[in-house]
Amino acid sequence: MDNQNVSQNVDVELKDNVLLKVDHLCQYFGPTKAVDDVSFEIHKGEVFGMVGESGCGKTTTGRSIIKLYDITSGSVYFKGVRVCAGTGSYKQAIKDAKAAYNEKVKTASEDEKKRLKEELDRTVAEQKKLIKEAQYDQKNCDKEYVEKLTAAVKEKYEPLLAGASAEEKKKLSAEYRNELRKAKNSKVITQIQMIFQDPIASLDPRMTVRDTIAEGLVIRGERDPKVINEKVYEMLDLVGLVPEHASRYPHEFSGGQRQRIGVARAIVMRPDLVIADEPVSALDVSIQAQVINLLNDLRDKFGLTLLFIAHDLSVVKYFSDRIGVMYFGKMVEMAPSDELFLNPLHPYTRSLLSAIPLPDPISEKQRKRITYNPLAEHDYSVDKPSFREIKPGHFVMCNEAEYQKYMSVLK
Ligand SMILES: Nc1ncnc2c1ncn2[C@@H]1O[C@H](COP(=O)(O)OP(=O)(O)OP(=O)(O)O)[C@@H](O)[C@H]1O
Ligand SMILES: [Mg+2]
Repeated sequence: MDNQNVSQNVDVELKDNVLLKVDHLCQYFGPTKAVDDVSFEIHKGEVFGMVGESGCGKTTTGRSIIKLYDITSGSVYFKGVRVCAGTGSYKQAIKDAKAAYNEKVKTASEDEKKRLKEELDRTVAEQKKLIKEAQYDQKNCDKEYVEKLTAAVKEKYEPLLAGASAEEKKKLSAEYRNELRKAKNSKVITQIQMIFQDPIASLDPRMTVRDTIAEGLVIRGERDPKVINEKVYEMLDLVGLVPEHASRYPHEFSGGQRQRIGVARAIVMRPDLVIADEPVSALDVSIQAQVINLLNDLRDKFGLTLLFIAHDLSVVKYFSDRIGVMYFGKMVEMAPSDELFLNPLHPYTRSLLSAIPLPDPISEKQRKRITYNPLAEHDYSVDKPSFREIKPGHFVMCNEAEYQKYMSVLK
């Protein structure tokens, strides 16, 4: 793309090319464990598909990543910076330690009581420190980012200004001030943009397409109407709409066009990561392919990294490099796409695969749908499951017996 403003992205070295790291993420709504201990990483330039049936926690995962919730526990790291940090697990650890102490102290000798109390105090102090750090990170992740951006802007403009003629100086210093203001207004999280599930509900009916697309730029501090218009037209062109569309309102568009507006609104921020939440589920099959192709083009053009959410595997199959399968708030299987289709191990993944219609009429006739019944499939009464790596990059939620079984059937 054209020369980017320095204030848009700061290049940082990514460790192992990991752009996003979701680490033991939990998001509970009262008793509902919408997302329960989910971990995965997304590498720069990759498309990570996330699939699972309605209500399994896909949207909640996406919304948690962009800080729409104060997550219950776990962490999200973006470019190595912890942007989300929940405190639930630390608080629970304190509770557990206290309960264990109260239990043990009942039968302990005086000496032992003292030792137990010291141990408890140590644990509580450690966890409290973690809580403080989490609260700090959750609140201050932008500070560090703004400092980096400001430094980058200074580094660019100060030598330019030093070498400029009096006339150039006037123009340059105005530009410099503008860039500095934008840098100071920046939020690390605007580098992640979400395309929302419902193209109708996610657009403000009272805002024109121009204002909708420009909103993020304006919030970031862009004030020059010429710059804004240029960007809006560029985005419209990019998503296959025309300049005349800019002055219209969302209700004047079809579903597919609205989704394109949603894409333009996300892309205009030049994000490093786009979370596309079922971007095509609400659309006709013919339009679905168009929007997918559009996302694919944008991926090539900008080197976008994508978290692509869908409820069935057929949509993500050709588009994703790796796929994570969610069931009831948990990630139950994760593997490179080809591997997942070749070696589906978790019974839920197998049931999702069995739901994909086959193009060949003979095999389609023989296709049997497998239904997933967790109670009949697993005996987790004694040996609890965990997310285990069966072969490099292929993870399955399973207990020891299942692990052994999966190892033996692997192709
Ligand atoms: N704000 C909220 N308050 C309470 N419960 C919620 C909230 N948001 C989601 N939930 C619940 O969390 C669970 C996961 O919802 P989520 O929207 O993440 O599912 P999903 O996988 O995106 O489903 P779909 O495919 O239908 O979009 C559901 O049981 C839902 O009812
Ligand atoms: Mg959803």
